[in-house]
Amino acid sequence: MEKRPVKPFWWKNGLFIIDQRKLPEKEIIVKLDTLKKVYDAIKKLKVRGAPLIGCISAYGVVVSFLENEKLPIEKLKKEIEKDIKLLKKTRPTAYNLFYALDRMEKIIKNAKNFTKEQLKKRLLEEAEKIYKEDLEACYKIGENGEKLIKDGMNILTHCNAGGLATTGFGTALAPIYVAKEKGKKIHVYVDETRPVLQGARLTCWELEKNRISYTLICDNMAGFLMSRGLIDIVIVGADRVARNGDIANKIGTYSLAVLANYHKIPFYVAVPFSTFDFNIEDGSQIPIEERDQNEIKKMNGKYICPKKSKVFNPAFDITPNYLITGFITERGILKPEEIKNLGG
Ligand code: MRU
Repeated sequence: MEKRPVKPFWWKNGLFIIDQRKLPEKEIIVKLDTLKKVYDAIKKLKVRGAPLIGCISAYGVVVSFLENEKLPIEKLKKEIEKDIKLLKKTRPTAYNLFYALDRMEKIIKNAKNFTKEQLKKRLLEEAEKIYKEDLEACYKIGENGEKLIKDGMNILTHCNAGGLATTGFGTALAPIYVAKEKGKKIHVYVDETRPVLQGARLTCWELEKNRISYTLICDNMAGFLMSRGLIDIVIVGADRVARNGDIANKIGTYSLAVLANYHKIPFYVAVPFSTFDFNIEDGSQIPIEERDQNEIKKMNGKYICPKKSKVFNPAFDITPNYLITGFITERGILKPEEIKNLGG
């Protein structure tokens, strides 16, 4: 399926991405032709969103192959394995990173009598498979989630769980894209999503590109809108889902879920199976990434607080299963309690 509302990356004799740090002002394309560049792109949020992080890291393994191609095969495999370990250190919360890199690692481990050519072919095939599977899953999430969206609905979303966060179709935005395709009139309220502003910079950018009606709000306005009856449904993505249905998603998601619960508004998590971590029982076991203080202290390069202010900057929070109405997945809409029966 080549149906992508946006194209956050592509492979054409090399790995190319849109630098999401520069959006919405500039659409800058960057070639990631060294492992260091792939590492930095993920770490510094040039590419972000759990499914996209997974996919880029898989192609990153191919980049590692190309960088070390001159080495004898056994040494080459060792170098790639080292690079896989390094990539796993970029973003601890996004499960897709580990899901994709474990798959790539398996190829190396099983490549007993491979020539270099065979190994390269298999690595590229697997990365492409991860990409195609995500695109397909996201489209199905769109088709399944669209049924929850009635004509005239107002939808609230947080962060960017759109095409830019995946291989191109999105998770939370996928039902919105399909609803639009089917001619439904919908409106999206977008949380700006402090401190990195993925909502303001990225979700607004891609909704505008796809001619979907939206209104940007500050994160602290959601409760007021809900109290006025302006929100019919909340749809967010997730970085990791535990067996009991607790989720980690962008900081602020938990507050939204509490607010939605208080106002009796359905709260859905749109997520592919590649984000389910069947190894962990509940959300308390999900590692939460903490990011640089300056993401909070500075805006446009200028301090917005006294320089020495103490800052706490967790990038994600945990939303407990009992606040989640359902999961919109490629296999249908699931209740949190159904998850543990499905895998692992
Ligand atoms: O820090 P980010 O921008 O990578 O965080 C992204 C999110 O929290 C998304 O909601 C999540 O990864 C799901 S993307 C389909």
